[in-house]
Parts: sequence; structure tokens; C-alpha cells
Amino acid sequence: MSTEHPVRSGRGRSSMFRTKTVEQSIQDTEEPEHALRKDLSAFDLTVFGVGVVIGTGIFVLTGKVAKENAGPSVALAFVLAGIVCGLAALCYAEFASTVPVAGSAYTFSYASLGELPAWIIGWDLVLELALGCAVVAVGWSGYIQSLMGNAGWHLPKELSGVHEGAFGFDILAAALVLVLTGILVAGMKLSSRVTAVVVAVKVTVVLIVIFVGAFFITGANYHPFIPPAKGAEEAGGLAAPLVQVMFGFTPSNFGIMGIFSAAAVVFFAFIGFDIVATAAEETRNPQRDLPRGILGSLAICTVLYVAVSIVVTGMQKYDTLSTKAPLADAFKVVGHPFWAGLISFGAVVGLTSVCMILLLGQSRVFFAMSRDGLLPRFFSIVHPRYGTPYRSTILLGVVVAVVAGFTSIDVLAELVNIGTLFAFVVVALGVIILRRTRPDLPRAFRTPFVPFVPVLSVAASLWLMLNLPAETWVRFAVWMLIGVVVYLLYGRRSSRVAGQPRRPEPPGI
Ligand code: ALA
Repeated sequence: MSTEHPVRSGRGRSSMFRTKTVEQSIQDTEEPEHALRKDLSAFDLTVFGVGVVIGTGIFVLTGKVAKENAGPSVALAFVLAGIVCGLAALCYAEFASTVPVAGSAYTFSYASLGELPAWIIGWDLVLELALGCAVVAVGWSGYIQSLMGNAGWHLPKELSGVHEGAFGFDILAAALVLVLTGILVAGMKLSSRVTAVVVAVKVTVVLIVIFVGAFFITGANYHPFIPPAKGAEEAGGLAAPLVQVMFGFTPSNFGIMGIFSAAAVVFFAFIGFDIVATAAEETRNPQRDLPRGILGSLAICTVLYVAVSIVVTGMQKYDTLSTKAPLADAFKVVGHPFWAGLISFGAVVGLTSVCMILLLGQSRVFFAMSRDGLLPRFFSIVHPRYGTPYRSTILLGVVVAVVAGFTSIDVLAELVNIGTLFAFVVVALGVIILRRTRPDLPRAFRTPFVPFVPVLSVAASLWLMLNLPAETWVRFAVWMLIGVVVYLLYGRRSSRVAGQPRRPEPPGI
């Protein structure tokens, strides 16, 4: 394990499309001071996946989209979003089992598409993971404040978050992120044990909603199942879905188009299954366990979401659903505040695990980018005792805590969705390209019907992206442009694949 070799480039050192070979990626993970521990099983990965996937999406967004976009047909929106994710999962599983190293879509792209696309994906994943974590932390804080309110306690306004654009710092959201950062620095073992308990509580609460709530369904609430389309003046201009702006439709809610708009939003509820892939390097048997972990957690969540949305829209008429805590409030409406309290408690616990795993995923992507020299190598040194990439974890924890403290949820959630869907597009293209450029690589899991399934995955992800507001596209474009500038000014020159010799490690390591 040499410490001086400049890493060979797959396609020429000066090119922004130089690739890092799969063998290089795996070899990097074997250098002792840059290696993570391998102690996760398929079960751990599934728990990991379910732990991050069930969160704000089902606990909060279900009510909002049923009320504003789809009515009871929000269940169909979950099916559509689940299909988009299923197609992407088939592509993710092949990549993850072929390139079993930290970094998710970032690493996969480096091995197939080249350095610039890989950087773009890594940068894009910041939207999904770090921003997603901030969004969920703010949602968590809202639930805590609502529980505190029941007990008659209230935070000063300035410390309870942003209110209608006025200055405010969400101290609870920031504190949550910092505490979770500490847990992650202390090691994977501790954090996966905590995660297992939290996931059990969360899944129990979701099952309570389904099985207890089923007794309170009123058939009349399902009529109309797909409410007729109606114009939405407030969704004019850039606030309308891009597809409506492009084709000059009058912006509308409900109807068939409403189901697609709803799917583009509830897609948030599925974000996270891909993060299982970021833990590849810490998995005992990635070839076998990764595909199981990814597809398993996705399947479980899809079934639960469809069931929850059918039950909740059956318990309460869609246009009266709460947009803050719809699952708990539906039980209040049918006269069962005890169940409502229990569900709120479960939501608080559940959102904690979502936050933690998003933060973990982000620190691992950052770690991989730093190990490749696209970000300073300083961040990829692992802790001598805990075996965790503590520097990147602490840096990101602090940044996410500040963002969570100062931002409101809604706009950010759409940005998270567009960023994630973009990553899906790149991964699906990557499967096709890697099959052509490296047909020799062993693939423990093979995506079926290539290139048909990856092409369908690209089309489905793009379709959901088109159903997001035009202004989300503008924000996304600005973020990606900043990323390209950072790459041109830093990553392009210091990349290890470019042949940059390894700098001496800082003293004291
Ligand atoms: N899927 C996660 C959630 O719904 C991000 O909170």
C-alpha cells in the first residue's frame, strides 16, 4: 500500500472526463489511515434505509399534498413516486455492488462518467443530504414545539425559527444536528444501535396509524377519489410546475396533473434509500448485502406509505386535513387524542433518525471527495480511535446546524427533490456506460433489461423533475453553476487522479 503513487487516470490526466478505475476506488479504501470499519450486515442496511426513508414525507407532506394537489389520490402519487424510486433502485443496486466503496452516486460516476460529472454529482448530493437534513431538523423542531405547547411551554419567538420571513433562529433544530454530529463522531457502532431502536419506534407508530386508523375510515371521504382539476392563480409564473410553464397550460391543482405534482413533492418521502449505497465501504459483504438493503427498505416503505395515505384520507375529508401534523390530527378529529399524542411522539423520534442518517451519508460523500483530492485531503483522515471521518463530520454538522437554524422548510424540500432526481438520472446513465466501458467487472447484482430499465429510470426521474416549480429549477441551476466554478478553481488541480502526488499528512496523525 504505497503512499506516494500518483493515481493513474482512466482516460488521460488532463481531461475533466478522466475516470478513476474501479480497482483504484477499491484500493483507496484499503489504505489504513483512510479506511472505514467493515461491520454492517444486510439487516443493518435495511434498518439504515427504513430509518432514513420514513420521515417528514409521510408524517407531514401527505396532508399537504392531499389537501392542495391530489385529494385521496395522494395514494396514487406515492405509487408513482415509488415506481420512479424502484427504477432508480435497480440502477443504484448494480452500481453499488460493482463499486463497493464510500460515496454513493459520486463514486459510481467517477468510475463511469468521469471526474467533472462525479464532482457535479457530489455537489448535487449536498442538496439532497445536507439540505435534506436541515429540512428534517426544522420539521422535528416543529413537532417538539407542538408537544411542548401541549404542556404549556413556549420558546421565545426569536429562538423558535423563521416566522413569515422575520428573523428567527431555530435553536432546537440546530441543537439536534449538533448532538447527532457528536454521536456520529463517536462511531458507527453506537449510531447504528441508536438507529435500530429509533426505527422500531417509528415503524410501530406507522403501523398504529394503519391498523388503528382503519377502524375510523368513512367511505364517503373517498369521493371524489381524484378531485376534478381546478385553476390555481397563486401558482402562476415561476411558482407553477415547469411542465405547465413550458407548454403554456393554465396552472391547476387536482385532476390527473395534480397527481403528478403531488408525486414530485411526496417523492421527498422516499429520499434516503440510495443512502444505503453510501455505506458500501462499511458493509461486510457488499456484493450480496447492498442490493438487499436498498431494494428491501424501498419495498417496505412503499407499502407503508400507500397504506397510511389511504387510511388517513379515509379518516378525514382531504380538504380538512392538517398540513402540520396530519397523521396525529386525523386521530384528534375522530376523537382519540391519546393515539394522536403517541403518534406525535413517534414522529419526533422518527425524524431524529432521518436527520442522523442524512448527516452520516453526507459526511461519507464528503469523505470520498476529499480522499480523491477534489476537496482538501485534510478532511479524509479517520479518527485513530473511533475509525470515523471525524473532521468532515464535524465541519458538516456545524454547517447543517446553522442552515437548519435559519431556514424554512418548503422551498428547501423542493430543492432537495430536484437534486436527488438529478442524481438518479446520472446513476441510470452510468449503468449503461459502465456496462459498455467495463463489461468485465463482476456485478453481484445486475439491473434487468439494460438499457431499457435505465432509460425508463431517466425518463421517469426527468418527468418528476418537470413537475417541480420553475423557480426550483432556477435555484438548482444556480447551485450547480457555483459547483462548477469551485471545481475549476480547486478540484481540477488537486485531484489525485490528475496525478497530483500525495501531500504529506498533517503532523500528529
Ligand atoms: N425520506 C425522508 C423524509 O421523508 C427524507 O423525511
